[in-house]
Amino acid sequence: MRTAALGSTGIRVPILAMGAASLGSIYHPVSQRQADDTVAAALAHGVNYFDVAPYYGYTKAEIALGQALRGVPRASYTLATKVGRYGDSDWDFSAAATRRSVKESLARLGTDYIDIIQCHDVEYGDRAQLINEGLPALRDLRAQGVVRHIGITGYQLDFLEPLAVEQQVDTLMAYCTYTLQDRRLGMVAQRLNAAGIGVLNASPLGMGLLTANGAPGWHPAHQRVQQACRQVAQLCREFGENIARVALQFALATAARQGIASTVIGTASAENMLDNVAWCEQPLNGELLAHIDALLAPVLNIGWDILPGNGGKASK
Ligand SMILES: NC(=O)c1ccc[n+]([C@@H]2O[C@H](COP(=O)([O-])OP(=O)(O)OC[C@H]3O[C@@H](n4cnc5c(N)ncnc54)[C@H](OP(=O)(O)O)[C@@H]3O)[C@@H](O)[C@H]2O)c1
Repeated sequence: MRTAALGSTGIRVPILAMGAASLGSIYHPVSQRQADDTVAAALAHGVNYFDVAPYYGYTKAEIALGQALRGVPRASYTLATKVGRYGDSDWDFSAAATRRSVKESLARLGTDYIDIIQCHDVEYGDRAQLINEGLPALRDLRAQGVVRHIGITGYQLDFLEPLAVEQQVDTLMAYCTYTLQDRRLGMVAQRLNAAGIGVLNASPLGMGLLTANGAPGWHPAHQRVQQACRQVAQLCREFGENIARVALQFALATAARQGIASTVIGTASAENMLDNVAWCEQPLNGELLAHIDALLAPVLNIGWDILPGNGGKASK
């Protein structure tokens, strides 16, 4: 797996990383066996960056990831988790909650340090509390070696970019903003790099929007965006292609020149992980991409204003 520098962290990350939200059963029920197999498939192919959060499946994803990583040498992978979001509409960036959250994540993940600790979906929390309590608490933990680097995550780039620069965080991860349908992260990532901030692109399949199965029922995208993506899926079928493959290849093929270090894809399937790894090295179909660009032009960069809140809804 090719690697890239993550901003000024000194960490080299695989260009394809594993998002472990899926292990919290947010898309479909996932067993520990599936989690183990997916993580093993990832590690076997150099996908050794894992992103997770307490919110995903209300801690289920962290527990499953921690279990799957048991026995794997700690220095052989990079672990990113989050603080601050604990429910669909539940944020707490207080110092006490931040410290408690890190401590609990360490226990669930079976480690004594977190490589990248990220403030989760910061645009929906209390900004003053984040700046005056949450981030200082994380800086203290960094000084103690409990966390190595500090980042923020979210969706609203016009909120994230100035906050990241002002607070001099190490990383910024945005989701659903560098895909076939929405390319806005590509417009800000270079500026973030220039400020020494490493950029991660989460959800290259648009949280399922750019898969053959289509978006899950809770997906916040506008109906006309969802309809256009269904047309793209149909077009891909006519070309004998898989929309997920084209979507991932688009994100990967253009990430480096946009200033994106790694693309964080979510799967709870070892088979899909192996496909994703293989697709990294295969060429993007330029003719098909030109047709897709034409189909998506009317909905390009159209985002949403409502809060997606599936992350806690773990299926039993
Ligand atoms: N605010 C935040 O910080 C934030 C927000 C969103 C995401 N993230 C991070 O980014 C990660 C990725 O996002 P995501 O999982 O929501 O969205 P995503 O990666 O865009 O899409 C995940 C969906 O794609 C499917 N999929 C993956 N590989 C596939 C393949 N080869 N063929 C067909 N379908 C495939 C998965 O199903 P299967 O499980 O069946 O493969 C799942 O339904 C998350 O796990 C999380 O770590 C962070």
